[in-house]
Amino acid sequence: MKLPIYLDHHATTPADPRVVSAMMPYFGDDFGNPASHTHVFGWRAEAAVESARESLARCIGAQSSSEVLFTSGATESDNLALKGLVRAGREGKNHIVTVSTEHRAVLDTCRALEGEGFLVSLLSVGSDGLLDPDEVARAIGPRTALVSVMAANNEIGTLQPLAEIGRICRAQGVAFHSDAAQAVGKIPLDVEAAQLDLLSFCAHKIYGPKGVGALYVRARRPRLRIEPLLHGGGHERGLRSGTLPVPLVVGFAKAVELAVAEREQEASRTAGLRDRLWQQLRDGLEGLRRNGAPGHCLPGSLNVCFPGVEAASLMVALPELALSSGSACTSATPEPSHVLRALGLAPELVNSALRFGLGRGTTPEEIDFAADRVIQEVRRLRSEGRRATVTARSALP
Ligand SMILES: Cc1ncc(COP(=O)(O)O)c(C=O)c1O
Repeated sequence: MKLPIYLDHHATTPADPRVVSAMMPYFGDDFGNPASHTHVFGWRAEAAVESARESLARCIGAQSSSEVLFTSGATESDNLALKGLVRAGREGKNHIVTVSTEHRAVLDTCRALEGEGFLVSLLSVGSDGLLDPDEVARAIGPRTALVSVMAANNEIGTLQPLAEIGRICRAQGVAFHSDAAQAVGKIPLDVEAAQLDLLSFCAHKIYGPKGVGALYVRARRPRLRIEPLLHGGGHERGLRSGTLPVPLVVGFAKAVELAVAEREQEASRTAGLRDRLWQQLRDGLEGLRRNGAPGHCLPGSLNVCFPGVEAASLMVALPELALSSGSACTSATPEPSHVLRALGLAPELVNSALRFGLGRGTTPEEIDFAADRVIQEVRRLRSEGRRATVTARSALP
C-alpha cells in the first residue's frame, strides 16, 4: 500500500493510462488544428474531434452529436448554459430556479445574472439534501426561463430526482439544465429519459484530463437557442469560439467511454468499499452523523460529521490521507460549507465534517487503514478536547 492514500476523488481523479495513450498521438504527429480545412493535418484532427463528439453524445443519450459543444470544463459549461440561455431572452422570460446546494459554478453565475436584472429563486432541500420536485413545480411562474438542478452533489453525493423534475419543466415549457460534473459515468444518465435540455460535464472527474468539458444543448423538440460567451472564429457552431484542444477532447471521450462501460461494476465495488468504511467508522466511534441521502447517493461518496472534533485539525493529524472537509475552500477565505448549512446543520457540526471520495484506485486495504487512522485521531482529539475543557473549567475563579 502506497501512502498518502487518495480519498478526494470528487475534487479530481488521476488520468487513466488508457486515456493518456489515446491522447498521445494528438500531441505528436496528429497535431493539426481541426479548423484547418485545407490539408490532411486539419482533416485528421477534425475526424478525431467529431468521433469524440459522437462518442460523448452516445454516452449521454443525445440524439445528435451536433448537440455536444466542447468547453474548458464544467464551470464554463454551467456559465454558458445559464447565461447563454437567459440572455438569449426567450419571450421576455427573466426568472431562474435553482437550488441552495448547487456548485458555486451555478450559484455564482446566478448571482452575476441577478446583477444584470434577472430574478433567481433558490430552493431549499431536505436534511438529506434531496430536492422535492413539487418545490420546483411551485417555483415555476409565467416568466421562468430555466430550472437548474445538479445531478449529484459534490460534497454529500446526493442524487436529485432529475426525471421527475424534467417532466415538470417540459410540461411547463421551461428549459431544464443539470450540472452533471459528478454524475456522468458514475450513475445512469440519459438526456432523453430525464428530459434535459442542457447538461454540463467534464473529463477530470472521471479519469480524463483537466481543462476540458462539454455542454449538451438540445437541438430538437424543443430547439434551444443560447448566446455564446466567447466570440471569435465561430468554432462550435458559433457558440464557443477558440481552437479546440484536440488531445484533451480525445482523452475526454475515452474517459467517458471507459467510465460508462465499467460503470456498473465500478459502482458496486466503490459502494461496497464506502459502506465498509462507514461501518468501521460507526463501530469505532460514537455520535457520528452521515450527511446526505444514503439511498440516493453517489457510490464513492461518504460525508461524515465527527462531533467534538474540527475537521481542519483532523486533516492536519492525518497527513497520510488525502481528504477534504465539507467546507468549500474555493476562495482565499475558506467559508463553512454552504451545502452542509443548507441541510440545517449547526456551525460546529458543519466544521466537523469530512468528505471521503473513493475512486477507481481505492482498495479494501486502504479503506481499513484509513478507518483505523481516522478512529485513532478522532479519539485522541476528542480526549484532548475534554481535557482542555476540564482544565479551562478548573482555571475558573
Ligand atoms: C458539481 C460540480 N460542478 C462544477 C464543477 C467545476 O468543474 P470544472 O473543474 O471542470 O470547472 C465541479 C468540480 O469542482 C463540480 O463538482
